[in-house]
Amino acid sequence: MIKDKDFNKMVNDIQKKIEHYEETDFSKKVIDEYRNPNNFYAIENPDVTGEIKGPCGDTMKIMLNVENDIVVDIGFLTDGCCTSIACGSMLTKMVQGKTLKEVSIITSEKLNDALDGLPENHVHCTVLAVNTLKKALNKFDRR
Ligand code: FES
Repeated sequence: MIKDKDFNKMVNDIQKKIEHYEETDFSKKVIDEYRNPNNFYAIENPDVTGEIKGPCGDTMKIMLNVENDIVVDIGFLTDGCCTSIACGSMLTKMVQGKTLKEVSIITSEKLNDALDGLPENHVHCTVLAVNTLKKALNKFDRR
């Protein structure tokens, strides 16, 4: 039978290995954003919501409140990977307090730059986040 002490050491070793791989593969900004995400919450009765399920099967939802053409509150939810959390966090920070015109020119490339670049196999997470934002904004335009 495995002892508590051995089990805890095994868990700690696995945790350290995971953190080592994260730090090897991802920028410091990506790690900071997903370990301490900003705006990772649901807004009750938002002005507009966008929700998309990406080709990877992960879902992103972005909710916004806008007053006088300025984003006054934004939240996101995702059931996706750590990178999608980092993308939602950084994107919502880029949007908060901006005018709708300023928000409309945010691209997945700009989000990728803001995160100091994602590994190639995770760049699609930026596309999912920005497309979800655009879906929400399109609804706002049509109101
Ligand atoms: Fe699907 Fe990151 S792997 S959003």
